[in-house]
Amino acid sequence: MSQTRPKTRPEAHSKMFSPTAKAGIHPATEAEAATEASESLDPTDWAGFRAQAHLMLDDMLGYIEKIRERPVWQPIPEEVRARFRSPAPRQGEELTQIHAEFMREILPFTQGNVHPGFMGWVNGAGTPVGMVAEMLAAGLNANLGGRDHIPVEVERQVARWVCELFEFPEGASGLFVTGTSMANLIAVLIARDSALGVAVRARGVAAEPQRLTAYTSNAVHGCVPKAMDIAGIGSDALRLISTDSRYRIDLEALEKAIREDRAAGFTPFLVVGTAGTVNTGAVDDLAGLAELCQREKLWFHVDGAFGALAKLAPDLAPKLKGMECADSVAFDFHKWGQVPYDAGFILVRDAAAHRNAFVSPAAYLKRASRGLAAGSPWPCDFGPDLSRGFRALKVWFTLKALGTERLGAAISRSCALARYLEGRIRETPELELMAPVELNIVCFRYHTEDPGAQNSSPENSDPGSSSPEISNQVNEEIAVRLQESGVVAPSTTMIAGRIAIRAAIVNHRTGRAEIDDLVNGTLEQGRALLGRIPPAPAE
Ligand SMILES: Cc1ncc(COP(=O)(O)O)c(C=O)c1O
Repeated sequence: MSQTRPKTRPEAHSKMFSPTAKAGIHPATEAEAATEASESLDPTDWAGFRAQAHLMLDDMLGYIEKIRERPVWQPIPEEVRARFRSPAPRQGEELTQIHAEFMREILPFTQGNVHPGFMGWVNGAGTPVGMVAEMLAAGLNANLGGRDHIPVEVERQVARWVCELFEFPEGASGLFVTGTSMANLIAVLIARDSALGVAVRARGVAAEPQRLTAYTSNAVHGCVPKAMDIAGIGSDALRLISTDSRYRIDLEALEKAIREDRAAGFTPFLVVGTAGTVNTGAVDDLAGLAELCQREKLWFHVDGAFGALAKLAPDLAPKLKGMECADSVAFDFHKWGQVPYDAGFILVRDAAAHRNAFVSPAAYLKRASRGLAAGSPWPCDFGPDLSRGFRALKVWFTLKALGTERLGAAISRSCALARYLEGRIRETPELELMAPVELNIVCFRYHTEDPGAQNSSPENSDPGSSSPEISNQVNEEIAVRLQESGVVAPSTTMIAGRIAIRAAIVNHRTGRAEIDDLVNGTLEQGRALLGRIPPAPAE
């Protein structure tokens, strides 16, 4: 099975290359070679290291397998936190001790997104397959900035798979990045350079006479205005268009804003549609946006951080109609793709425009037609990073091991769970749904207004409890108490000026039991906070 190292140099190689002995340099004696090996940072006791490494792998597999037996999250004790303030070690210690410290002081105090009760923010859960692939990638320690090696081909293969999935043309370019925040920034930069010409990269935006403007809905993720800021265009130049009752961009208002900006001398250049808004999971009318962008000659970018991968689920894919017409799509494999952090991706229809925005020749990165410096263009020509890890491997393993159908089914299931939660909220008078459930995000609150006199104890009923401030305080407190309970971990957001408890169901391990825990826990905490008596169980 295992490949043995060739004992001699390959023939072609030895013909061209003189070994050091021939060049008059003495080969190291065995003793010298042994000393040199011990000066490297590799283990001196490989057998011992191997045994310890197997233990570490086993511990992590056990952690995931038994994750349900742990709290989803727990506060970090002060003495544990304090131990992470110690100075950098001058001498190394035994790996066994460091591992024990990890098990004792790191592993129990993580965010909890591996746990099925985690439903805060929008976080993926990872899989054991992704975890072991990450270990293999670390062993290879490949740098995917460039050069001619198979890890770059793996990344290119995943890019082709994404192209196919998103119905993009074959020549489109794709690149792994940290996350959608970075992918959105890359899209803004490509769109900017396409509008102003690549000379803007040298001259800077300030030298350009045009005043660029971009458009998105007021439900946009905060990383898009940040991208406008970093791109030198300014976040004020991003027009936040109003949304309809389902939190989707209002196309008429968008057209009007573009018209008014043109009349005022601005240069509209970009529209960002969202496939799955961060607050409520709304999906813009992407086909409508595509058509408008084509008519107005604007770059059409889709922020599909989590929603884009709904393409994998046949029942959800129609919601994304129009995404296939985008100029670029940003999304994450680390959210609904369940790949361990981090694994963001940017897909660009026009590979030349993508490359023009980032290519940066340097003597030390000179390309060749043969040898290790072959294989141009390199990934570093498509983004800001030169040193890049092998993110593609964990995605490649995940896709190969689980298949797109199983991943799609998990995505579909999280939307079914969201609908189940919606149903439970609708049938519970003490709870109120705060936004339509479009995909996998459910926003709701515990009613601080008295939902039915029969549920209140007269001595505790508080007429002031109907104010928005009380509602916000109570719901914020419920979310914190739920997190501290270790059972479920939702987050909060603001919907129509009110704090909502937000369940973003991304985790493939989450099931109905966790949804029931969320509902029951919310009721229990809400009643405790307002001194309400639970209704008598139905006969
Ligand atoms: C719609 C949307 N856009 C962008 C982002 C940012 O993605 P990342 O955290 O991978 O940078 C998120 C994160 O949840 C998101 O939901």
